[in-house]
Amino acid sequence: MDARDRLRRYLEQRRELGESEFLLDTLTVDEALARLAGALSPSRNPASSVDRLSAAGAVQDPPPVRAPLVPPPDVAPRSGGPVTAGVGADWRTALAGRGPQDPSGDAWPAWMAPLGLERGVIRGAPVLSPEVAALSALGDVVEAVAACTGCALHRSARNPVPGTGHPQAELMCIGEAPGADEDAAGEPFVGEAGKLLTKILAAINLSRDAVFIANVLKHRPPGNRDPSPDEMQACLPFLWRQVALVRPRVILALGRISAQAITGSAQGIGALRGRVHLLMGIPVVATYHPAALLRNEAWKRPTWEDVQVAQRLLVAARAHDARAAGGA
Ligand code: URA
Repeated sequence: MDARDRLRRYLEQRRELGESEFLLDTLTVDEALARLAGALSPSRNPASSVDRLSAAGAVQDPPPVRAPLVPPPDVAPRSGGPVTAGVGADWRTALAGRGPQDPSGDAWPAWMAPLGLERGVIRGAPVLSPEVAALSALGDVVEAVAACTGCALHRSARNPVPGTGHPQAELMCIGEAPGADEDAAGEPFVGEAGKLLTKILAAINLSRDAVFIANVLKHRPPGNRDPSPDEMQACLPFLWRQVALVRPRVILALGRISAQAITGSAQGIGALRGRVHLLMGIPVVATYHPAALLRNEAWKRPTWEDVQVAQRLLVAARAHDARAAGGA
C-alpha cells in the first residue's frame, strides 16, 4: 500500500470516527479526501498532485532528518559520571526495568542514533527531598500535592491538579500550569487547549487514557500568569517523581515554560524545539503549547513535525524493546 492509499484509509477511518476537522490544517476530512481523489486520478501528474497536497498540508512529509549533532551551549556539564542523586533510591531500578532508556540518564540511547535527530540538553535525575523521594506510587504524589503548602498558590486555587493518565504511559505530556477550567475540574488540559491536545494525540493514534498528562505547576497561578521561579522550585519535585514513576518512553514538553523547566535551559521554545533532549535518560521533545496554536495557526505545522518526531521515537523505542525481548 503506498503512502496515498494509507492516507486515504486514515482519513476514512477519521470520518467513520465522526471527525470532520482535519487536524492541524484548515481542511476538513471530506475536503482532504476530495483532494486526495483528485491526486489519485490518472489524468493528473501524480508527483505534482502529491506536491499540491503536501503544500495544502494533507500529506505530511516525514520530518527532516536533522543535522548531526553539535552540543548546544546549554548542555548540562557532565562532571565525572552520571547524576545519580535524586528521584528516590529506586528510580534506577524502575528505569532499568522498562524500556530502552539508559538508567544513568546522561548518555544518548544507542537506539536513537539511526533516527538522526539533533541532540539537545541532557539532564540527569534532579535531587529530591527525602519526603518526595519516598513517594512510591502515583497516588502518593496526588496526596502529597493536595497537602502541599510549598508556595502560596494552594490558597487561591480551587483544586489541586496533580496530573492524570495511564500509570505506565508510553508518552507523558507536560504542560505549564492549570488554567481556570483545570482548576475547576482538578484535571489537566480539559479546556480548549486540552481539546486540541486530545486531537494532536489522536493524530498519532494515542488516546488520552493511554498517555499521562501533567503540568509543571500543580495549582493554578491567579489570572494564568507565568509561574514564578519560587513556585516552580517548590512544585517541580512532584513532576520529577511522576516522571520516575511513570517511566514514559518519550516526554512531550508543551510550551516554553515546560520545555525550560524540563531542560533547565533559558532558551525560548523556538530554540528548544527541533532537537531531542534527555531527562533521566528519557527523550524529551519540546513543542508549542496547544493554547499558542489556538492563537497562531502558523505554529501548527512545526507542532505537527515535533509530534511526528515524538511518534518516531515511540516506534523506535518499542522496536528496540521488542528486539531486546527477542534476545536479538
Ligand atoms: N495549559 C496548561 O499548561 N496546562 C493545563 O492543564 C491547561 C492549560
